[in-house]
Amino acid sequence: MAAESPKASRESRAQLRQMLGIGAIASVLGIALGLLIDWFPAQGSEQARSVDTVWDVLIIASVPVFVLVETIVIYSVWKFRMRPGEELKDGPPIHGNTTLEIVWTAFPAIILVALCAYGFSVLTDIEKAQGKDKTLKVHVSAEQFAWSYTYPASGGGKPIVSNQLYLPKDKPIYFEVTAKDVIHSFWVPAFRMKTDAVPGIKTHVRVTPNRLGTYPVVCAELCGIGHSVMRSTAHVVTPAAFAAWLKRERAPLGAAGGGATAGGGAANAGKAIFTSTETACGSCHTLADAGTSGKIGPDLGKFLKGHDKAFIHESIVNPNAYVEKGFPKGVMPGNFGQTLSPQELSALVDYLTKVTR
Ligand code: CUA
Repeated sequence: MAAESPKASRESRAQLRQMLGIGAIASVLGIALGLLIDWFPAQGSEQARSVDTVWDVLIIASVPVFVLVETIVIYSVWKFRMRPGEELKDGPPIHGNTTLEIVWTAFPAIILVALCAYGFSVLTDIEKAQGKDKTLKVHVSAEQFAWSYTYPASGGGKPIVSNQLYLPKDKPIYFEVTAKDVIHSFWVPAFRMKTDAVPGIKTHVRVTPNRLGTYPVVCAELCGIGHSVMRSTAHVVTPAAFAAWLKRERAPLGAAGGGATAGGGAANAGKAIFTSTETACGSCHTLADAGTSGKIGPDLGKFLKGHDKAFIHESIVNPNAYVEKGFPKGVMPGNFGQTLSPQELSALVDYLTKVTR
């Protein structure tokens, strides 16, 4: 660089100070804003706190970098803009600055390596196995466009398959995740943990739910036309309530009657099943009686008219047996035969037969 006069060097040092001053104030404001915004739902697992801390650290580390770059760009555009009469002027020729280059290569490299190491250590920590006998294994199966959960057999019983995810509070859960067709992603935002469901391999994710409540389970990988309705609910309940739920699910057919059919009559039970978040029938189907207006599948009021119980039953458990003209095959989940109990299924069939007659 050409030697500067003392006055010019004083001036450029003043500009640098001004620029750093603006950058520092903007960084503080940006960090404060980043930390104040409520980005996530309530923390529903032991892992959530650590994940949220990682997020805060990333905000603190990345906001100043963003602000510094933007400040330099905007400051330079404003301060060193071309003024009238300067059209033919050019700046002094610059042939690089080795010190600066070393600094701006080394500094980001150090920040990156430090953040990676920190993120890796947090992940290792929150995914630590808690011991096989302490952990509950739940198999998660994804398919277009539904989730089903399998709980291992215990005491000689059959494994339980459900479209409802029930979890006991404070119990470490080991989710084993698979997919039947395309790639999906199993995510409970309140738990903060997520893993892809990939056909042909098993992925896993560990979570210890520590807050009672119901939380949405969502698919976080674009998987087809029904991706946005591929949802279910995680119920975190007390260990006693979980044991009671398992017992109900395990009860021999006809004994317990199924949660949805208890009380209220079969027709009401059928409507409750139709509109529940577990089946979410209404997110794809229009049905006037249930007040739903989904457009992905056929309007059931029109389409089911004149069909008998056997046809409706078949259309639920084997949706591809008959596909209404103008609607693509393979969109409706094929697992309702497994995830609904026989009582729930017959209540649903009765209901649909009645309201579409
Ligand atoms: Cu399954 Cu998106």
